Amino acid sequence: MSTKILVIHGPNLALLGEREVAVYGNFTLDEINRKLTAAAKDAGVELEIVQLDGEGEIVEKIGQARKTFQAIIINPGAYTHYSVAIRDAVAAVSLPTVEVHLSNIYAREEFRHKSVIAPVAVGQISGFGVNSYLLGLQAAVDLLKRQ
Ligand code: DQA
Repeated sequence: MSTKILVIHGPNLALLGEREVAVYGNFTLDEINRKLTAAAKDAGVELEIVQLDGEGEIVEKIGQARKTFQAIIINPGAYTHYSVAIRDAVAAVSLPTVEVHLSNIYAREEFRHKSVIAPVAVGQISGFGVNSYLLGLQAAVDLLKRQ
């Protein structure tokens, strides 16, 4: 059985490339997804990549993931800072989950310094732009290899 990893881009990430370029850079979500797909191919794992704006949609997707995927990489966007529902979904499926952020959330406004997801994630990667996702993928793949 091949290893499958679910990548979830949260709210507003479809707007990358246009949105707050000074903070997030000028690459688009498609460019991130192409890099992720190439890296996954090299690592010999399969990815499903989704972008979901709705909190409920993300909760639903995580809930369904346990049947199909071995790990999750998630950028929960603004939900990072307050969504107990997404945190509970991650805890409920108990799939190793890597939290990623393009920006360094600890170097920004105070309300971004807290992640309610981090305590139920394996770890968090924040501040490396596109590389946050690639490092997140590497972390998830290494973790699964060691299991
Ligand atoms: C983000 C950081 C969040 O605070 C913000 O709401 C986002 C993007 C990041 O990738 O840096 O939407 O998750």
